[in-house]
Amino acid sequence: MCVNVTFSSQDIFAGKYDGVVLFTYEERAHAESKFATKLGNNVLRAREKKEFEGKHKQCFLDRQEGTMYVLVGLGKQEGVDTVKMREAAGAAACCLKEKNAKHIAVELPAELDATAVGQAVTEGVVLANYQFTKYRTQELEKFKELEAVTVVSDRTGVAAKLGVEIGTFIAESCNMTRDLQNTPSSDMPPAVFADLAVKMAKKEKLKYKVLDRKQLEKQGYGGIMAVGRGSANEPRMVTLEYHAKKAKKTIAVVGKGITFDSGGISIKPSPKMGDMKFDMSGAANVVGIMRNVARLKLPMNVVGIMGLAENMPSSTAYKPGDVVTTKSGKTIEVDNTDAEGRVVLADCLHHATTFKPDFIVDMATLTGAVIVALGDAAAGMMGNDDGVLDMIRVAGEHTGERVWELPLWDCYKKDIESVIADVKNTGLPRLAGTITAGKFLEEFVAGVPWVHIDIAGVAWADPRDNYFAKKGNGTGFGVRLITELLRAQRL
Ligand code: BES
Ligand code: ZN
Ligand code: ZN
Repeated sequence: MCVNVTFSSQDIFAGKYDGVVLFTYEERAHAESKFATKLGNNVLRAREKKEFEGKHKQCFLDRQEGTMYVLVGLGKQEGVDTVKMREAAGAAACCLKEKNAKHIAVELPAELDATAVGQAVTEGVVLANYQFTKYRTQELEKFKELEAVTVVSDRTGVAAKLGVEIGTFIAESCNMTRDLQNTPSSDMPPAVFADLAVKMAKKEKLKYKVLDRKQLEKQGYGGIMAVGRGSANEPRMVTLEYHAKKAKKTIAVVGKGITFDSGGISIKPSPKMGDMKFDMSGAANVVGIMRNVARLKLPMNVVGIMGLAENMPSSTAYKPGDVVTTKSGKTIEVDNTDAEGRVVLADCLHHATTFKPDFIVDMATLTGAVIVALGDAAAGMMGNDDGVLDMIRVAGEHTGERVWELPLWDCYKKDIESVIADVKNTGLPRLAGTITAGKFLEEFVAGVPWVHIDIAGVAWADPRDNYFAKKGNGTGFGVRLITELLRAQRL
């Protein structure tokens, strides 16, 4: 269920809510004196005893007449930004949700741009309230959720209200992506994923096209076909198109959609294999991003491409040693069937170039190596265009999704040379695995400006809660990032 978000410019203490949230700083904001006037000495005492210091995400809870009041810290006032506000809003929402509040009100901090603050705080609440309960049948009362949020601001109502609306769309799209991610692979094979993407497209009036197995085969999408061949759940490729009137730019967004990655004939070890239901996270992001693009009516054309397949071992599966001819005509020597994402993306990236985009961004849970390099703190990115790389880094600074660039130097190219085909789908063992995967992808973008984001370490929360998601849940990392990238485009 989705929380209902509304905006109000009335005094927050005048409304009737289960919970009320105000923000403060280590130095104490004006909101804290309002809080103290309303609730008395408890907060002053907590300050004196240093039980509450206004540290970032620290919550102080007080009650009066059946309402719970939370004061949440933003840390030091200097250097506060919307990333901190989003996180603090999420922490306060969780605190009240745990205490069984259903309808809460949140007063926006008085600093920074009203629209950006409205957006960030709303996102924090809606993202933190998300949980995946589709498969629970017992003790449902344990899974508490907020039902309504009123975002309150007495300054520049229109600007703040706009931010709240934008934040609501964006966080809802991110939560839609998380539903796709969290669903077990047996209930989310390529055909089902494609149907859900089309359902969203119809609702948001996007153009859509789905290629099924027969069409992929006939049209020469040899990469997707090879990876999908081992499974009874047939592959699909979905293309969504958003067109803006008088658009001057076209941007393509591509996602890896392996609905389950067993490794195929080069089968993975059993521990944690279940996590490979998340190997479609790049494609799930594309669904959320395209929803945002439509809702926000962005002024450029955007194409979303998803390569969907299930990587399984069977007598029909592709095998190490095989050579695959991709849609671009280039051939791939399959050294390891577990390096399947790049084989699928080879076809998707080529397909993206046919739209003559100004640039392409792809997202993929592509390599275990990126987790070794960056952990769960940042996604790895690499590409052939410094301008786009820079824009993505800046977008991440706004959304709180960190991306870190790795080099794509030509010296890495020899590692993916094949003795039999144009390119090989692996590099050398334990040697720059994320980069050689990026180098491989570069072969298929035909010189179009392009950035690849490896989200293997950040797509789901592991080994701890991360990006407003509980451990073991999809994070939707990339949805807000790329939405911000697109919103920031100059025409
Ligand atoms: N989907 C995996 C990458 C992955 C691993 C994502 C762990 C998240 C967590 C990908 O298809 C894969 O298996 N890559 C191999 C490539 C190797 C065989 C060259 C890898 O990273 O080990
Ligand atoms: Zn794999
Ligand atoms: Zn994979």
